[in-house]
Amino acid sequence: MRKKLVVGNWKMHGSRAANAVLLAGLKEAGPWNADVAVCVPFPYIAETALALTGQQVAFGAQDCSAHEQGAYTGEVSSAMLADLGCRYAIVGHSERRAYHHESDQLVADKAKAALAHGVTPIVCVGETLAEREAGRTEEVVKRQLAAVIHTLTHCIGEIVLAYEPVWAIGTGLTATPEQAQAVHQVLRLQLHAATQKSDAMRILYGGSVKPDNAAQLFGQPDIDGGLIGGAALKAADFAAICRAAM
Ligand code: G3H
Repeated sequence: MRKKLVVGNWKMHGSRAANAVLLAGLKEAGPWNADVAVCVPFPYIAETALALTGQQVAFGAQDCSAHEQGAYTGEVSSAMLADLGCRYAIVGHSERRAYHHESDQLVADKAKAALAHGVTPIVCVGETLAEREAGRTEEVVKRQLAAVIHTLTHCIGEIVLAYEPVWAIGTGLTATPEQAQAVHQVLRLQLHAATQKSDAMRILYGGSVKPDNAAQLFGQPDIDGGLIGGAALKAADFAAICRAAM
């Protein structure tokens, strides 16, 4: 049995005051049966770490550099994330692939850098609407995952994978549980061919997960929790989604 994992991705939202309210709300709302984490903007990691001391909720970042250290202005290394106590770093989110032109290989290199410092990468894959309509969903997600498998080789079992159909992110258009499960199954089979640990690996679904659709999605055999955007910004909604992950 895989323990479910629910991760809130705050994206570029928040302020010190708003975060304090949100984190206090989460502390009140727990505990949950699932593992729970929030991935917050870089400037707020240290304060989030303090706020969550002794709590069930882990924390992490939304990206990390593929580089170890050096003259890379604006980059944040996974060693720095580890230094702050981050458990997770999201890598390859579709917003970074689209707006920052991140390639499959760069995403894989970031995942490798994170693992080297004991930070678990949450590797995102997912197809655009045009790719889905062209019948290319499987080909796209398999290509994205293949780069990570190739780069991490025997460490692939240590990642968390997240399937996020781009057309479902922030749009209110959720993949049906059946559509999501079908892709998760494809991904698990691909992992199965690469590692003996595939049955223990968590594959999260992301894309307009809300309190009213979470339980159905999380009830699918290969969906092991969620990566939550908009609904992670309200403590009551995020807490309800965490409760739905049994
Ligand atoms: O990382 C989270 C995803 O992009 C989902 O965002 O829940 O706002 O659709 P959303």
